[in-house]
Amino acid sequence: MPSETSVPMHATEQPQLEPFLKWAGGKRWLCRKYPGIFPPSFERYVEPFLGSGAVFFHLSPSRALLSDVNTALVETYIAMRRSPVNIHRLVKTHGINHSAEHYYKIRAHIPSTAAEKAARFIYLNWACWNGLYRENQRGEFNVPKGTKENIVLAGDDFSRTARLLRQAVLFSGDFETTLDRVTESDFVFIDPPYTVKHNANGFIKYNQAIFSWNDQRRLRAAVGRAAKRGARILVTNADHATVGQLYRGLGVKFTLAARRLRRCNAPRRQPGSFTN
Ligand SMILES: C[S@@+](CC[C@H](N)C(=O)[O-])C[C@H]1O[C@@H](n2cnc3c(N)ncnc32)[C@H](O)[C@@H]1O
Repeated sequence: MPSETSVPMHATEQPQLEPFLKWAGGKRWLCRKYPGIFPPSFERYVEPFLGSGAVFFHLSPSRALLSDVNTALVETYIAMRRSPVNIHRLVKTHGINHSAEHYYKIRAHIPSTAAEKAARFIYLNWACWNGLYRENQRGEFNVPKGTKENIVLAGDDFSRTARLLRQAVLFSGDFETTLDRVTESDFVFIDPPYTVKHNANGFIKYNQAIFSWNDQRRLRAAVGRAAKRGARILVTNADHATVGQLYRGLGVKFTLAARRLRRCNAPRRQPGSFTN
């Protein structure tokens, strides 16, 4: 069993931190409806499909390893860690100037400083259609403006957000690199794009690369390796027979609010079994 030190899940008396981004497939609903699904203590939190980091902010861990394949997203978190006050000011200014004209002008031009890039990313995320992130073949963000006329920032305590992010190691890259660093004292939350077999047709696009069925198989293999090393792991995935088949023999399946979850905590000699 992993050794544990007690980690306060909400280290401060302040109100719960919220994600500063809205993200397709974001897991705020999971934190709200099923807070008891996460382990009460662990040494380090690991999230290789970070997105808006709903579970990361919910748990507010004292140590974390966070990554996502979306480089612009990860650069936004890194800038937030360094310059929260400046970014907050810049985003507020975008909010004041918000209009269709402003949106398309900002979308067309990538500024030069890290703080300006982060503020642009946050503004476009809030003002675009349904918080989607999609790029064209040249790697340019191309989501149209959404219907919101007033851009009001939720989760806008950027200084607290920055303090929490300073406790995390952040990098952009494929999930496999992160999962192969996982150890027995980690809790790993895995929330990939929901591709199912025979439907790897490019519909689920978070950026240029499609999360294919082959990626789902790579993920299953990496989860198996991490479970063998003794990490506690919670995977969310599509409630679909092909996904059930893929994970057969590994952990325990939960179906919550029509969404499928798999949790495993593998002691060294019983890979994949759930022991909590
Ligand atoms: C369902 S979203 C995660 C949502 C997140 N849990 C939240 O609460 O916002 C899936 C994420 O996986 C990322 N992603 C897609 N392919 C990836 C890959 N091969 N490696 C790492 N991240 C990837 C996407 O950029 C996207 O942010």
